[in-house]
Amino acid sequence: MPVKMFIGSPEGLERRRIPLGALGFYREQVLPRLVDRACGTRALQHWRAEVTEDLSGRVLEIGFGSGLNVQHYPPQVEVVLAVEPAAAARRLASRRIEAGSARVEHVGLDGQSVPLDDASCDCGLSTFTLCTVPDPTKVLSELRRVLRPGGRFHFLEHGISPDPSVAKWQHRLDPLQRRLADGCHLTRDAVALVKQAGFVVEHVEQRYAKGPKPWSWFTLGVASNPT
Ligand SMILES: C[S@@+](CC[C@H](N)C(=O)[O-])C[C@H]1O[C@@H](n2cnc3c(N)ncnc32)[C@H](O)[C@@H]1O
Repeated sequence: MPVKMFIGSPEGLERRRIPLGALGFYREQVLPRLVDRACGTRALQHWRAEVTEDLSGRVLEIGFGSGLNVQHYPPQVEVVLAVEPAAAARRLASRRIEAGSARVEHVGLDGQSVPLDDASCDCGLSTFTLCTVPDPTKVLSELRRVLRPGGRFHFLEHGISPDPSVAKWQHRLDPLQRRLADGCHLTRDAVALVKQAGFVVEHVEQRYAKGPKPWSWFTLGVASNPT
């Protein structure tokens, strides 16, 4: 029998009442903890340190998750405006936010519709989130709207490999991955998406990280919002 449960944070975010059956329980309670483990490995720390380097001012972070980037924000960051739908991830993030020195405010639940004014942020950040959001084009268009002209978008994503044999496996595994990992795709091309959204890509690094190749083709990039 489905259990009624609140999702959303008690700190002023919209609260939604949803029927929490087995699938809802997996998505809301189990998956954020699995993602926290999988994305919180030591091997990923240097990637996180690199992508957050040079962030400054007001930073919009899409898919804030359990706050695994918090320890890496440089001192020039004035405030991180976090968008994250999963209540369990926000709860996991709270101890990292308390332990960190940066100010973090949860401002929304969906990167496809961000409750911030136009041109009100200096930087955007996404780590392993463009793979998961339902419509990355909408998210990137929201980011462009909210970033000031000349503002920078920093991203770190896994995605489609340039090796045909790996890409073939990624396409095969994609339906299962999407089911098990709440919509996470193995086959998205972050650089192409960022360019299509109208950003100017300034810097890109791509290589295999540690781990099975279908999940390990990483892209780290910085793109600017044209003036
Ligand atoms: C693989 S996790 C990455 C979390 C975190 N960025 C990290 O690096 O550890 C993907 C995140 O995207 C979030 N997400 C899913 N749909 C979203 C949406 N529409 N808007 C914003 N975030 C979303 C998920 O809840 C999850 O926290």
